[in-house]
Amino acid sequence: MKRIITYGTFDLLHYGHINLLRRAKQYGDYLVVALSTDEFNWNQKQKKCYFDFEKRKQLLEAIRYVDLVIPENGWEQKVSDIIEYHIDTFVMGDDWAGKFDFIEEKTDATVIYLPRTPEISTSQIKQDLEKFNK
Ligand code: CTP
Repeated sequence: MKRIITYGTFDLLHYGHINLLRRAKQYGDYLVVALSTDEFNWNQKQKKCYFDFEKRKQLLEAIRYVDLVIPENGWEQKVSDIIEYHIDTFVMGDDWAGKFDFIEEKTDATVIYLPRTPEISTSQIKQDLEKFNK
């Protein structure tokens, strides 16, 4: 059984997220999503989520490509998650290209950056909605 992990906030779930999860799942059989908690988003990423952690988790759990959702509480947990969940492949969108190469030195997992889906992001949706309502 090949296991994959990916990390993110996945707020206001959109087709860019679904594309990422679908392509991530193609690297194996079991996809773990480490979902940023509200505290981590706010304290470390200066992001305020529209949907809270439990709602974002429920949405992800309803996606056929996702097998398990775990909390992401901080930047430092990646290596220990990979060991704990016996992960073979670490996948992120290419907005993070190069940032997690160190994982290949510290674990047996392969690191893959997938091209982002163009022209959609949670921030973009928020910005556009603000304009629509003016
Ligand atoms: N992602 C993607 N294509 C997009 C948007 C996101 O492949 N158009 C990927 C990201 O690269 C990341 C994962 O989906 O691996 C979760 O991204 P996240 O940051 O939660 O979503 P964004 O829409 O990028 O949110 P924001 O605008 O707040 O940064």
